[in-house]
Amino acid sequence: MHPMNKLILGDNLEILRNIAAESVDLVYIDPPFFSNRTYEVIWGDSGEVRSFEDRFSGGMDHYIGWLKERIIEMHRILKPTGSIFVHCDWHADAYIRVQILDRIFGGSNFRNKITWQRSDTHNDAKHQAPNVCDDIFVYSKSDNYTYNVQYGPHAEKTLREWYQYIDFEDGTSRKMTKEELETQKIVSTVKGRRFNADNMASPNPRPNLMYEYKGYSYPAKGWRYSLETMTKLDAQGKLLFPKEKSGRIMLKRYLDEQKGSVISDLWNDIDQIRGNSKEKIGYPTQKPMKLLERIIQMASNEGDTVLDCFVGGGTTVAVADKLNRQWIGIDQSVQAVKVTEYRLNAQQDLFSKPFTVTLHKYDYDTLRYKDAFEFETWAVQQFGGTANAKQRGDLGIDGIKKAPAGGLGAAPIQVKRSDNIGRNVVDNFHSAVMRYDKAIYDKNKAEKLPVGYIIAFSFGKGAIQEVARLSNNEGVLIKLITVESFVPIAKKPNLTVEIKDLGVAKNLHEIEFIATVKREAGATSHFFAWDFSYKNPKFIPEIYFDKDGRQTYKFKAGTHEIAVKVVDDEGLESIEIVKLKVNGTIERK
Ligand SMILES: C[S@@+](CC[C@H](N)C(=O)[O-])C[C@H]1O[C@@H](n2cnc3c(N)ncnc32)[C@H](O)[C@@H]1O
Repeated sequence: MHPMNKLILGDNLEILRNIAAESVDLVYIDPPFFSNRTYEVIWGDSGEVRSFEDRFSGGMDHYIGWLKERIIEMHRILKPTGSIFVHCDWHADAYIRVQILDRIFGGSNFRNKITWQRSDTHNDAKHQAPNVCDDIFVYSKSDNYTYNVQYGPHAEKTLREWYQYIDFEDGTSRKMTKEELETQKIVSTVKGRRFNADNMASPNPRPNLMYEYKGYSYPAKGWRYSLETMTKLDAQGKLLFPKEKSGRIMLKRYLDEQKGSVISDLWNDIDQIRGNSKEKIGYPTQKPMKLLERIIQMASNEGDTVLDCFVGGGTTVAVADKLNRQWIGIDQSVQAVKVTEYRLNAQQDLFSKPFTVTLHKYDYDTLRYKDAFEFETWAVQQFGGTANAKQRGDLGIDGIKKAPAGGLGAAPIQVKRSDNIGRNVVDNFHSAVMRYDKAIYDKNKAEKLPVGYIIAFSFGKGAIQEVARLSNNEGVLIKLITVESFVPIAKKPNLTVEIKDLGVAKNLHEIEFIATVKREAGATSHFFAWDFSYKNPKFIPEIYFDKDGRQTYKFKAGTHEIAVKVVDDEGLESIEIVKLKVNGTIERK
């Protein structure tokens, strides 16, 4: 069972320092580019909310110093076979390469400078020729690294110059006409396969390959293949025999058997996210999924771990999840982490792996109704333990609390996602701990160290009395740990939604939704996300970022469920579901 995928809110430097060395296969980062801009999540014209800053008061040195200390950690975290992709642009690319990547990874581990044509040409006051490209530097940690060749469609020029022959299903073959080569379309009622007539001559003199084949004499240095292979190719219909015996037999390379042309370091076939793009979520600088698909396919394999510690709108982890990679996503912005969470939830299917979201603060309800296994894993990790990857048959042990370095006291942890835990839980846990590892149990008991920890929201009198009895009468120490003792629990924002009937037009009933939020003291901002065809429990937002909480939507007659979420600046969220019956009138259920 693979470790849990993680989405973590916070400054990436601190978090990177807590990730184990040599535990990640691929790092892709798209950090602020030193563009001296503040990126806002644009909502209409009434006002923007800051998503992230790309300003470095100390200039380039400040920026390079800031990025370098993070890339040093990424280098430590990468496995020896791993590689890093650093997305940047003209603002700082040369400095990043020379002052950071060459120094940390070594110039000899430079693998590529990929040029991605990010946009079409446009007016550009800053440059002579408009800047339409970004750079992506690729470095490996050693010279033994994962590289899966990527293929793209053949260029038209290649098709026209190379694949000029057709084999038809009726057994005939011919060269393509000029018009067919122009249009790249085969003019025939019979289905045909295009092929390239490839040279069969051996590049070096090979006497053992100098033999006559079906009356065709061998090329000067002999054939490329042995008689046995030649016969096999012939049987497969892969030989092109010229009419004259004096001619040269050629090898048919069928276009539909080719992988395509090898993707080079010039990527001008992946479009940026445009205004009407289906995958647009409204996060500033969001990258296209195709770009990350190519990077992740190129430099990792299924099951590998992908890290993006500037995850933004979540493109890297959304793609890694789809491509069956494990992943870690980090961002300092609440909007980034919450939008990524929604995006991942929206694409989850039966085969998707669960993931945890680590915020600074949590609200009781969200934790209380989290998936049980997710909650257990999250609670053990937050408590500083190692979660048990086993979901079933774990003998009541959900994790292990590590002993302090070189110290004693590693002990099992049990997590209960409930309140008012009773005596029976303590009893069962006590036997489970003894059954789990008697030697550790005896050692901890002898050392007067906890033999185990029970984590829950609250404990009943029975449980408290039982641990006291065990301690006083049997010298057995079981620690009862409340969730709020190790994570800050806060109240989530309070959300209400009003609706306004805007009337019927063209058989569609237009309704205005007005969401109002009462935030807890201290919370300074919030945003809304809307799902207008909500199917409980899956929340798939059509609108990811709405600052004002006002939306209008047109509905056909029928029953509808609309879900709206509000997220405050701690990442705490509330959901409100509006059930409507629309049939000329509106009835709220
Ligand atoms: C250019 S955006 C990434 C966009 C992303 N590739 C996407 O496709 O949506 C950079 C992200 O880095 C985050 N960021 C900047 N400084 C950070 C830091 N010190 N720790 C964590 N995240 C940071 C910003 O909040 C922002 O979301």
